[in-house]
Order: sequence, then structure tokens, then C-alpha cells
Amino acid sequence: MGFYRRFNKKELILVQVPKKIANFEIIREIGRGGMGSVYLAKQLPVGRLVAIKTLPSQGKNDPESQNEAVRRFESEARAISILMHDNIVSLYDYGFVNGMHYLAMQYIDGSSLFDIIQKRKPLPIETIIEYSKQICRGLSCAHSKGVVHRDIKPQNILVSKDDNKCHITDFGIARIKGRERVTMVGMAVGTPEYMSPEQAEGKGFDQRTDIYSLGILMYEMCTGNPPFCGEDPISIAYRQVTEIPRNPSKIRHDIPVRLELIILKAIKKNRNERYSYASDVVRDLELVLSEGRDSMSTDYMSVNKYLSGSDNRAVSAASRINRNILKQTTNAFRSITRKINTTASKNSNSIIVGLIILVSVSFAAIIVLLAMLLN
Ligand SMILES: Nc1ncnc2c1ncn2[C@@H]1O[C@H](COP(=O)(O)OP(=O)(O)O)[C@@H](O)[C@H]1O
Ligand SMILES: [Mg+2]
Repeated sequence: MGFYRRFNKKELILVQVPKKIANFEIIREIGRGGMGSVYLAKQLPVGRLVAIKTLPSQGKNDPESQNEAVRRFESEARAISILMHDNIVSLYDYGFVNGMHYLAMQYIDGSSLFDIIQKRKPLPIETIIEYSKQICRGLSCAHSKGVVHRDIKPQNILVSKDDNKCHITDFGIARIKGRERVTMVGMAVGTPEYMSPEQAEGKGFDQRTDIYSLGILMYEMCTGNPPFCGEDPISIAYRQVTEIPRNPSKIRHDIPVRLELIILKAIKKNRNERYSYASDVVRDLELVLSEGRDSMSTDYMSVNKYLSGSDNRAVSAASRINRNILKQTTNAFRSITRKINTTASKNSNSIIVGLIILVSVSFAAIIVLLAMLLN
């Protein structure tokens, strides 16, 4: 057993770092969250690397909160166990040894999306679209099995460094349809910056709750920050419910119009106005790149129209706003204008020539008349 000290709120507590948990040999600590540590470990005897998330016993001081923590931990294990997807971390083992619950998962050798955003601000548009599609595919799988994650944020997306693949992790507050309610009704759960208005208000939630958090995450990938930040969690949660976010294109100008509309639709306050399914987000994301580089600019008129009008009209308007078409229309308009001008100038020239001839003929006629009269 190894030992180290750490502060837990105001208490100085000793945390035992085990050398081994079941048949997993601990290598080092790789993360630390709300409930316990996450270790990199080697599974014996096969030797594969795994991530072990632990829930140490809090002692007998507060059995109620310990029971709640165990329930959540078990629920997390159950949620991951029913989800087999490339974009979700896989569960290898779950157990309880030496007073410690543990969860052995696929080890993702890479960085969290949070670190990537901090390091590479601003992320290239293509990367944002690729990451978003992968997260959506993971979410689609979870939702199809009745699992709502409820804590989608950059810290809970792990990106492997060898193939740049996103993996959703931390199903700690996930809700599995049909199972016992782990969190109390009326309680706000999640992380304020990524929390949907319905979460903030402690109302019901469904898969569109994750779509909201995904929209906030996409906003952050585009601009470097989520739309609603601050020191005080309550005021951030309040802003989620009441405040209209700044258009991301006002912060970063090279955001394609369709991408901006996707984000704005995902973070609609009213969940009936959001995308219903993560697969619908993928479908629209695919169109952003297929429209080509020429469409990669923001048309403010259509965004404003979107903000005031219905989602569907705006998104289909966006599909029509293709720079190529705009260019063709502009060129056509220019050539028509040119033709009109040319015709007009030709016409005006003929009128002038006509007038000169008329004046000359009249002048000649007057002279002839005068000459006749004088004779
Ligand atoms: N499967 C994994 N592979 C690699 N690192 C992981 C894995 N799971 C978690 N981690 C690391 O541990 C941190 C905390 O894990 P997480 O499951 O999010 O715990 P918490 O519920 O405490 O937030 C993550 O941000 C990440 O750095
Ligand atoms: Mg986490």
C-alpha cells in the first residue's frame, strides 16, 4: 500500500493508494474527481492497460451519503455495461474489494476535450465537426438504450491520441430509463455551464437534455468558451434559463452559417424546439462540409431570421444559402444590369441622333421656306 495526503474541503485526510485492486496492478493516478481517484492499471495476467475508477469508503460517519454514492457508482457501471460503442468507454469489470468499489474501464491514452480546447483554441472547423459527429454517435447509442448522460462537457470527453477518436466517459449521474431514480426530484444535477434549462429548474429531462449540453460544448469548441460562464453556479444556471446566448459568429467570424444554426438549434431553451435526436444533428453536420468551402461563411440575415422565426424555416433557408448560388445570382444580376445599361445607352444614342436629324431637317426646311418667301 502506498500513501499520500490530500485536502478534502477543510480536512486533511490520508488516502491509501493501493498497489493492487483485485487483479489490476496500479501504475499511477491519472485523474481525480468528485468521489474518488482514477488510476492507470495493468490487468493481470493479460497485461492490458485499464483505467480504474474507485469509490473509497467514507467510513461510517455519513451512511446516507455513502449509500447514495454507492448507488450512483453502481448506476454508472450499469450504464456503461449496456453501452457498446466506439465513442463510449467500455466497461471491463466492476467489483468491491477491501472496502473499495471499483470500475475497470477501457483506458484512453490521450487528452480530455477540455485540454484540447485550452491548448488549440480556436479548433479548426473540420475538427469541431468531426468531434461533434463522434460525440453525437455515442449519444445516439446511449439514448437508443434509454440512457441519458446528463453531464456532457469537455472534461467528460476523452480523445485518444493515436486515432483522434472521442469517447464519452463519466456516466456518474446518468439516468437509465425504467430504473430507480438516483437523484432526488427537483434537484439540479449536472455542471452549471453545460446544464440545460430543464436541469437548472429541476424539471424532467430526456435525450434533448444531452443535446443541449452538446450544443454548449460545440459553442465552446467554436469560440473557446461556453456562452454562460461566471463564478457563481446559481447565476450561471439562471442564465441558462433566461439569457439568449451571443451568436457564436459574433465571436468567431469563420463559422459556417449552417454550423451556427445547428448550435443555436441545439441550445434552444425550449426543448421542443431543439433537435429531437442526436442522429439528426449528425445529418445536419454532414451537410456543413458537403456544401463546400464556399458556403463556409456566416450570413447574418439568415441567422437573425432564425432567431426570430421557426427553426425549420431557418435551417432550410440555410441550405439554400450556398455561396455558389449567391455568386451565380450576383453574376447573373450584374450581366443583366450591364445589358440594360448597354441597351439604354444604345437607345439614348439613337434618340440623340434622331433628334439631331430632326433638328437638322427642320432647320433645312425653315431655310428653304425662308428662301422661297424671299424670292
Ligand atoms: N477511461 C479512461 N481513460 C483515461 N483516463 C480516464 C478514463 N476515465 C477517466 N479518466 C480520467 O479521470 C478523470 C476523472 O474521471 P471521471 O470519470 O470524469 O470522474 P468524475 O466523476 O470524478 O468526474 C477524467 O477527466 C480523465 O482525466
Ligand atoms: Mg468527470
